[in-house]
Formats: sequence, C-alpha cells, structure tokens
Amino acid sequence: MKDPFNQTGPEYGLRVDKPLVLIGLMGVGKTTVGRRLAKKLDLKFVDADEEIEKAAGLSVQEIFDRFGEDYFRDGERRVIARLMEEERQVIATGGGAFMNKETRALIMSKSTAIWLDADIEILVDRVSRRDTRPLLKNGNPAEILKALAEKRNPVYAKAHIHVIGNDSPHDLTVNNIMKSLNP
Ligand code: S3P
Repeated sequence: MKDPFNQTGPEYGLRVDKPLVLIGLMGVGKTTVGRRLAKKLDLKFVDADEEIEKAAGLSVQEIFDRFGEDYFRDGERRVIARLMEEERQVIATGGGAFMNKETRALIMSKSTAIWLDADIEILVDRVSRRDTRPLLKNGNPAEILKALAEKRNPVYAKAHIHVIGNDSPHDLTVNNIMKSLNP
C-alpha cells in the first residue's frame, strides 16, 4: 500500500503529515475535489458538514431551522477541532467554518489550509442545482453569494494555499493542489 508519508514517485514526492483542509465558498467543489485529492494521496476523506449532521442526527437545514445558525456554528467549531486531531486526512469544510476565529486559528496551526476559489457566476450556476443550503434560501442566491464573497475572500486569502478551480475539470484542480503542496 502506498504510504503518503513517504511517496517517492514522480507524481507524489509529497509529505503529508498534517490534515489537508479545503475552504471556500459554497458550490466551489470542496467535497468533490477533496474526495479526489484524498483518493490520489491514499488518504481518508471527511466532509465536516456530514460529520456535523452525524453528530446531531439532523441535516444542516434542520439544524438551522430548529436551533439557528449560532448553534450550527458551535457544532461546526467542535467537530472541526476533533477532526484536526487526526493527521493524515483530507477535510472539506462548510463555507463558513474558516470565518470563525477559533476554527481558523486551529486550521491554520494544525493543517494545510487550501482555499479553493472560483468566479461568482460559476458558483451561482452550481448552487442552483441543489436546494440544501439554508443561507441561500432567504433571498437571491447570486446576491447572497456576492456579498459572502466580498466579506469572506479576504479571510479565505489567509489560507496557506490558493487554488482557482473555476470550471476546470476537477482532476486538473487536484493536480494544481498537488503542485502547490509540492512546489
Ligand atoms: C455554509 C456552507 C455550507 C454549510 C452551511 C453554511 C456557509 O457548506 O456548512 O449551509 O456558511 O457558507 P458548503 O460550503 O459545503 O455548501
């Protein structure tokens, strides 16, 4: 079995001794890209939103509806803190996770943070295909995403790595992440 600590092949040469954490706006492809990155590096993949749902026994939408966003954010902070304890894995986070100061400090100190970025038009198109995001339900999704991008992008920019996905094939984005991990 390949050992991600010690990959010497031309494709890898990559030392993964910290979790790789994908951050970025809704619809950018953190889960899909994260899954493929994990597969390529022989690492486990974890989706933080799924972990929150498992812990609560409720969907993200249900948590927002029944308990509100602050409650969700608190659960998100605790779940991500737990995930940071395991070294070798790829973690996709929900778009707001990195905005929490404590969560951000933890991600920055214990992992390699990768900001997956894309143009707003691409995000709007992608999020319109799924109706599961509570933050986009109270208004025009394009306007909400634009406002979120303005507020969040300067914070996402603190990540260790910035990769632009746009509408490139996911495998190309994965390769770009791997190149940035191994400059
Ligand atoms: C959120 C993004 C969602 C989810 C929740 C809040 C956000 O995750 O965590 O709906 O604040 O941007 P995705 O980024 O995976 O859609």
